[in-house]
Amino acid sequence: MTIIQANYTYINNKFQENIAVAFDEKIQAIDTLENLQKQYPDSTLIEQQENSILYPGFINTHVHLEFSKNKTTLQYGSFMPWLDSVIANREDLVGACSNDVMMDACNEMLSSGVTTFGAISSFGTELEVCTKTPQKVIFFNELIGSQAATADMLYGDFLERLNESKNCVNHGIIPAIAIHSPYSVHPVVTQRAISLAKKEGLPLSAHFLESQAEREWLTEEKGGFLNFFQNFFSTSKAVTTVDEFMNALNQVPTHLTHAVQATTEELNFLNEKGHSIAHCPRSNRLLGCGRLAIETLIENDMPFTTATDGLSSNNTLSILDELRAALMLHHQAPVEELASVLIKSITSTPAEIFSLNSGKIEIGKDADFAFITLPDKPSSLESIPLHTILHTNKVNEVYINGTKV
Ligand code: BEZ
Ligand code: FE2
Repeated sequence: MTIIQANYTYINNKFQENIAVAFDEKIQAIDTLENLQKQYPDSTLIEQQENSILYPGFINTHVHLEFSKNKTTLQYGSFMPWLDSVIANREDLVGACSNDVMMDACNEMLSSGVTTFGAISSFGTELEVCTKTPQKVIFFNELIGSQAATADMLYGDFLERLNESKNCVNHGIIPAIAIHSPYSVHPVVTQRAISLAKKEGLPLSAHFLESQAEREWLTEEKGGFLNFFQNFFSTSKAVTTVDEFMNALNQVPTHLTHAVQATTEELNFLNEKGHSIAHCPRSNRLLGCGRLAIETLIENDMPFTTATDGLSSNNTLSILDELRAALMLHHQAPVEELASVLIKSITSTPAEIFSLNSGKIEIGKDADFAFITLPDKPSSLESIPLHTILHTNKVNEVYINGTKV
């Protein structure tokens, strides 16, 4: 048994002082240090540093490891030129993305305290790295392809990738499904994916209403996507509408990434149906997609996570860099309250969305921890999330299933 005592421990979205946690692979007890040492006389004590804070391990729900080689190749500023640049450079970028590059990406997340991440996998090339990285991985096998003619072939390829990920559950892989987006997946395939997710209880995710161009295409068959679909697929017709896609999702709670261009009514509808949002503020900024009105989500108690997206639309995979960006982007929100919600969005909220046995410091949960130190004493307990976000570049220690990594 190991005992860890921080100055502050994040329990139930609040901070408790001078509480100790006893754990092996799981959290076994939470009490004063004195009581725990009496209960476990042979335990090892991890020495605390001044101004230390024990958090549950952080969860980054949305990343594309296969694009980790991108630094300066892709075109930022606006969604359609970015998508064109992805298509033009995809083969080179994915081809150059070695296991070492992807492992560096996992390590960058680890340094920022991420103990579980959601990997959106287009090709399955990151599966091996995901089995080797110490983190737990929700492995979202992605479906893409709007054309009926290629639907069966692409679905078959997806099933093969899904099966390969199912063979890796002993290596910390949680098999899952991603529908690329409403505009890029044929509705028959979308339906098959949803039915499969429902039947097998697999986590489901989809990019949704990321850009103004996507909204214009799905609602009016106009805008930047009209040229795109005419050029690549000789069609001027969208395969679905916003309402059709949302209604198809009714059967399975889905983690919808971005939703920047969703209306309040659409967000409320999705919330009622049990869906949740992944918020990627830096990606949205860099691709010119706008700002997600997280205040609408907060007001309506809609669960949302904060996630980095991939290095195809970001400069780092540090979840703390992402929270700093969110803190600045949503400049009208009261800063301490926002910081507190943001910490929740990378701990208990994603854990609840995906039924993970982590994301909380609670007896019986996996002993996944991010241990950080503030540079000085926090002015109040309420200010700790803000100071954590402002002052933490790298966490001090990370534990996964009770082992220091
Ligand atoms: C497709 O494969 O149909 C597709 C891919 C990316 C954007 C739009 C459509
Ligand atoms: Fe993404």
